Amino acid sequence: MGQRLRDRVAVVTGAGRGIGRGIALLLAEEGAAVVVNDAGVNVDGTGGETTPAQLVVEEIRARGGQAVVNTDNVADFQAAENIIETAIKEFGRIDILVNNAGILRDRMVFNLSEEDWDAVIAVHLNGTFNCTRHAAVRMRQQKFGRIISMSSTSGLYGNTGQANYGAAKDGIAGLTRVVARELGKYGVTVNAIAPAAQTRMIATIPDKARQVRAQRGVALPGQRTSELPPLRAEPEDVAPFVVYLATDAARNINGQVFLVRGGVVALLNDPAPVRTIIKDGRWTPEEIAQIFPHTLGMDLVNPAPPQLPPESGPGQGG
Ligand SMILES: NC(=O)c1ccc[n+]([C@@H]2O[C@H](COP(=O)([O-])OP(=O)(O)OC[C@H]3O[C@@H](n4cnc5c(N)ncnc54)[C@H](O)[C@@H]3O)[C@@H](O)[C@H]2O)c1
Repeated sequence: MGQRLRDRVAVVTGAGRGIGRGIALLLAEEGAAVVVNDAGVNVDGTGGETTPAQLVVEEIRARGGQAVVNTDNVADFQAAENIIETAIKEFGRIDILVNNAGILRDRMVFNLSEEDWDAVIAVHLNGTFNCTRHAAVRMRQQKFGRIISMSSTSGLYGNTGQANYGAAKDGIAGLTRVVARELGKYGVTVNAIAPAAQTRMIATIPDKARQVRAQRGVALPGQRTSELPPLRAEPEDVAPFVVYLATDAARNINGQVFLVRGGVVALLNDPAPVRTIIKDGRWTPEEIAQIFPHTLGMDLVNPAPPQLPPESGPGQGG
């Protein structure tokens, strides 16, 4: 067993399966005591059972580590407080929070119900805020903390059929950048990871959806990393980088978003101006129409080119 996280206490949400399970196991192997949170729900967030979290706790204990079960729903503000308080009650503090719990309800935006929007935002974006909010109070007091949240290229780059999920995941990246700036001075770092791994969540995306996206020439998320050779990406591959971010060595890594897929770890740039046009005063629409194609728009690619006759649409006929 490693000692990098000896005497540290961690909460990992959604740790009963997939990426979260791998993170909980490695944090424990490195010496951290772990609250294994998982509501044991289906991929769409329905149902609920205690078994996944319980099994991971048993696995950690069998390897000589320390862990306790928590099955609270991260989407509920009070329940999230109980997740963090479980760490305090059982182990005396909370040093590391990994916001990992997640669900999927993919629909094209014109078919997306309010309920499917709300459910996905509630687990990912509200869940990340809820746990972060309660942990931040303790971490600020103790002047130490590590918060690591799962974002996704589905939001950072965009992916069809995932308006709810993508909005939540890009929201998590924004939340990360803001909270990093609020908590940094208290010795707390806040970072996000856009992971990719073969888990049950990915298995639910039908091959048909992938084929349709490819046939229509719709850009896939992570396309900018697709030049990398094909990789086996196991759920356990994300954990070593989480451990690194949790250690003292990473004390100045704050407010960043990383991509982790198999053996690839990439730093994703902060959004920054790529090209700029500046005028002393307000632009007119005519001036913009003239200058845009040769400046800002010179090499922009439409990720989903229209499949309509060129003359269709109002004002396009003449
Ligand atoms: N697998 C990928 O390639 C991939 C890509 C991008 C982002 N992610 C993100 O990584 C995280 C883990 O995904 P995974 O692929 O391991 O999924 P998974 O479905 O295998 O595991 C997610 C776990 O979260 C739990 N959970 C769901 N809602 C919960 C709630 N309200 N409260 C507590 N627990 C809850 C589930 O019971 C499940 O065990 C998610 O946030 C996901 O969006 C995964």
